[in-house]
Amino acid sequence: MNKGFLEGKTALVFGVANKRSLAWAIAQAWSSEGASLVLGYQGERLRENAEELARSLPKPGKAIGCDVGEDAELDTFFAEVAREAPVVDLVLHSVAFAPKEALDHELSEVKRDDFLVSFDISVYSFLAIARRAKPLMTRGGLLLTLTYYGSEKVTPQYHIMGTAKAALEASVRYLAFELGPRGIRVNALSPGPVNTLAARGIPGFVQMLKHHQEKAPLRKLVEPAEVGAAAAFLASEGGSAITGQTIYLDGGYSILGA
Ligand SMILES: NC(=O)c1ccc[n+]([C@@H]2O[C@H](COP(=O)([O-])OP(=O)(O)OC[C@H]3O[C@@H](n4cnc5c(N)ncnc54)[C@H](O)[C@@H]3O)[C@@H](O)[C@H]2O)c1
Repeated sequence: MNKGFLEGKTALVFGVANKRSLAWAIAQAWSSEGASLVLGYQGERLRENAEELARSLPKPGKAIGCDVGEDAELDTFFAEVAREAPVVDLVLHSVAFAPKEALDHELSEVKRDDFLVSFDISVYSFLAIARRAKPLMTRGGLLLTLTYYGSEKVTPQYHIMGTAKAALEASVRYLAFELGPRGIRVNALSPGPVNTLAARGIPGFVQMLKHHQEKAPLRKLVEPAEVGAAAAFLASEGGSAITGQTIYLDGGYSILGA
């Protein structure tokens, strides 16, 4: 069998909850190319599933618990990674959360605590991960996050997450500027809607799926495997000059003016 182009590389993947998670599609794509993976899962409830998924990767990996809202858990996670894999090459942040209270209300009704939690888990966690990953990324590499077009154009009912994703995309640009001299590239993938656990929390999500399928120039929804393939491309030689970008994987939906 030919060696994959990620043979000898280590990847950290945050955000695998189940087989529908976009992080799972990316984990599989990176693992198929030979990367050694560590999955960071949210908490005890997901442990068994995450460990089983890690073992089932094309190149079996491991899973470590890590609530990205807790500095102590992030520190423990990275200390454990550093013991086993002193160099990290790829990091995926595929994590977002907003309390139901916030998602169910218009932006002008969102309470301070709900705003802070939404931005903490959906935005700050990317910075918190970048801070701990950069000393381990001694041969450069890729920090990748996932965003959605509701950051840029108003998407009814996405409100609080739209503002969080806008901050996340700005963070991608600032991190790309800061970390570029170390050879670390920072990008976001922006897929169209995919039926996952997090997506089902967005009010009116089923209508969003239908609308995208009907209106996108390619008249199709993005498949998780296509998100995985795009992440593999970004991790490859082909992605080596790409940084600070938000890359749409949406069948062309984002080019439409009406
Ligand atoms: N599904 C879509 O339509 C879609 C489209 C564009 C972007 N995205 C983005 O993709 C990313 C992944 O979402 P998904 O659709 O795969 O859903 P998902 O529910 O499978 O993934 C969300 C992940 O976030 C994790 N998470 C939430 N709070 C956490 C915490 N405190 N600590 C650690 N992990 C935590 C969950 O455990 C889960 O693994 C999100 O950033 C989402 O906004 C999704």
